[in-house]
Amino acid sequence: MTQANTQPEVNIGLVGHVDHGKTTLVQALSGSWTDQHSEEMKRGISIRLGYADATFRRCPGVDEPECYTTDEECPDGSESEPLRTVSFVDAPGHETLMATMLSGASIMDGAVLVVSATEDVPQAQTEEHLMALDLIGIENIVIAQNKVDLVDRDRAVDNYEQIREFVEGTVAENAPIVPVSAGQEVNLDLLIQAIEAEIPTPERDPDEDARMFAARSFDINRPGATADELKGGVVGGSLVQGELSVGGGLEIRPGREVEEEGQTEWRPLETSIRSLQAGERSVESAKPGGLLGVGTGLDPSLTKGDALAGQVAGEPGTLPPTRHEFEMQVDLLDRVVGKEDDESGESDIEEISTGEPLMLTVGTATTVGAVTSARDGECEVKLKRPVCAEEGAQIAINRRVGARWRLIGVGTLS
Ligand code: GTP
Repeated sequence: MTQANTQPEVNIGLVGHVDHGKTTLVQALSGSWTDQHSEEMKRGISIRLGYADATFRRCPGVDEPECYTTDEECPDGSESEPLRTVSFVDAPGHETLMATMLSGASIMDGAVLVVSATEDVPQAQTEEHLMALDLIGIENIVIAQNKVDLVDRDRAVDNYEQIREFVEGTVAENAPIVPVSAGQEVNLDLLIQAIEAEIPTPERDPDEDARMFAARSFDINRPGATADELKGGVVGGSLVQGELSVGGGLEIRPGREVEEEGQTEWRPLETSIRSLQAGERSVESAKPGGLLGVGTGLDPSLTKGDALAGQVAGEPGTLPPTRHEFEMQVDLLDRVVGKEDDESGESDIEEISTGEPLMLTVGTATTVGAVTSARDGECEVKLKRPVCAEEGAQIAINRRVGARWRLIGVGTLS
């Protein structure tokens, strides 16, 4: 098992249909299991974003692609050299959890699309996830054709052709397709080589205002801890720009809902950064990449049970406004993707109409909004729960079709 020894510098989403092997692949590359939270275990699917870090390494003097590994020791006994640490975001494949996938996509720098060689292409979520990558504009993609150990050569070649045909005309058109077996750990060197080539670490400007999307929040105290022992609330998420340092101030928006004289309003939370955990280490300052845990001075009851998931954190005074309503430019899909034939509801996507409810994902926040006005390619929504978002933010738009929320398009906050 290789431990990450530096902060991850790039976030790579793992997407694809249920059971095609995303979690197994992350485990093979990182030695850790992303389904680590008890809630996920119980449900058997990754219902929250799971993160796992892997350090890619190279054995000196060995030819490509065999030189790529995640092991510290090379086959000849020498030590491998670390190339970089990447963070895998294991997006859930379960269809009703599309919004979580999309909120994860907002913090992905690239993606590995996992497609099982044992099934025809595309399966519902293969199509839906590729569509989401397309919409959100994630262009650096590697396709892992998984479970090749379970099929014969002809079937593997047929399946490969199906994948090629399926991605034609999409953002993944030129993505390399790497046949692998995550279960048997076959061709992982080729996969690492492809990721190194296709998903570079983005250039980041350390002088930009820090901006962190909270995906989780916790109370890390044991029941019965005394006042002296009590630790402040912890916020977990992804820093997408800038830097955060221990001792610095932190503002979190929208913050918390307070009721005063019969009126409710949302007030930003202000605190200080007490500790930072990046990858598996405590650090004094953190840059974008991987999952960041921020220990704060907040009352832990405020962060308990993911209460701050979906909020945005940064230096006080630098965050975008809290919005209870907004206007967005809308780009609708041509048709509902991933719908099974026996499901009710139309496949064609009709224009958004005034009064209809939409489920909107903005950053890591998911909120329901009612459409208060809809015109050609534009609409205004009033939100049930406010979001902190700036102009130009991308919004995944879901409509209720049949029994579930379906992705129907993407909005840009105007
Ligand atoms: P969700 O989190 O439910 O979306 O599934 P997932 O895509 O993460 O799939 P997971 O990794 O849980 O794998 C599903 C099943 O396929 C498990 O039983 C794995 O053991 C098996 N599996 C995954 N990869 C391989 C492989 O390369 N070969 C074989 N034979 N089995 C595999």
